[in-house]
Amino acid sequence: MRRYAVFGSPIAHSLSPRIHTAFARQTGIALEYLAIEATRDTFPAILAASGVAGANITLPLKEVAFAHCRSVSARARRAGAVNTLTRTDAGWHGDNTDGAGLVRDLTERHGVDLRERRVLLLGAGGAARGVAPALLDAGIDALYVVNRNSARADALADALGDPARVHARGWDALPTLGEFDLLVNATSAGQTGTPLPPLPMALAAPRSVAVDLAYGRAAVPFTAWARAAGCAQALDGLGMLVEQAAESFQCWHGVRPDTDPVYADVRRLTD
Ligand code: ATR
Repeated sequence: MRRYAVFGSPIAHSLSPRIHTAFARQTGIALEYLAIEATRDTFPAILAASGVAGANITLPLKEVAFAHCRSVSARARRAGAVNTLTRTDAGWHGDNTDGAGLVRDLTERHGVDLRERRVLLLGAGGAARGVAPALLDAGIDALYVVNRNSARADALADALGDPARVHARGWDALPTLGEFDLLVNATSAGQTGTPLPPLPMALAAPRSVAVDLAYGRAAVPFTAWARAAGCAQALDGLGMLVEQAAESFQCWHGVRPDTDPVYADVRRLTD
């Protein structure tokens, strides 16, 4: 039986084995899918020893995995990070399905029209880099990258190479930016336990949609803020997780699974 795995640290509570096993059952594909603990230092050796045909990569390994690839897709190159590895005769091929997963969750599951929208992206680390290109490709009008360390926001904006639409700002500029149609929290504040600096309520309007790329307890502070600020929808990253998994599943097996029942299952599990 072909073996697949998600690599990261910490990894014990990853939902990816449950999601991929459900997709496999649904599509009649025989596979084994494991969660394997690895750090930046141990990852190459553990990957080589694992015998997997494909891998999902999560925190903190997405940049290390990118550097480990023999070839990468255009969207992985733009993100500078890889969340999907496929074994080939030449070596590992890297892809990044995070941005496509977010856009599909927003547009198809939650009915959000991204065209010509004004978007706030909080954070400029790996998670922000993973989703920014797909948001631009979805036809948004403007992307404001706001980061505590404004030099990292500048670096991400430069890397995106779209100065007409992408603007970098420091956190102190938030009160001057007006309202956004979509607010994306791509910081790791919810995971690290260090709270986000205060967010002005004026960023949100009754039409606004807010989404935290994290899920579970890590998404609570930002989604609670979004509800208090009057956003139409305050979403977590669980839908994105299922959609990026479906996109990876399609890369490996050539079949797109039906994500709705699997999303309902993991939603029940995490609520
Ligand atoms: P990830 O891959 O999850 O993006 P990362 O590359 O370490 O992880 O980036 C973490 C992001 O969350 C950064 O944008 C970081 O801001 P800085 O670059 O200023 O450090 C942001 N972040 C983490 N904790 C934060 C907090 N408490 N408040 C604001 N931003 C925070």
